[in-house]
Amino acid sequence: MPRITYIEFDGTEHVVEANGGESVMEAAVRNEVPGIDADCGGGCACATCHVYVDAAWRAATGEAQTMELSMLKLAEAVADNSRLSCQLVANEALDGLIVRMPESQH
Ligand code: FES
Repeated sequence: MPRITYIEFDGTEHVVEANGGESVMEAAVRNEVPGIDADCGGGCACATCHVYVDAAWRAATGEAQTMELSMLKLAEAVADNSRLSCQLVANEALDGLIVRMPESQH
């Protein structure tokens, strides 16, 4: 099972074992990680699952697709490494993934 580390804006870390195939957002919500509200339930329609992907993991997570990029335009404090965690599939290739939550989701 892929292990994902979520780091809140204040530096608090949460390490979660994701079920293979669920999204990084779903793993966070299932484990009650604060800062990932996921208001739309994973429909790429709210941007409340915004995370910053750690630099070491940007290649493994790939590029955001058109719909995700459109929704990210509505998020606060978007950066080059911003992603919507509902669009990241927690497969074995992402074992060890580190993401950080923005201040707006603190
Ligand atoms: Fe709404 Fe990701 S959960 S955009």
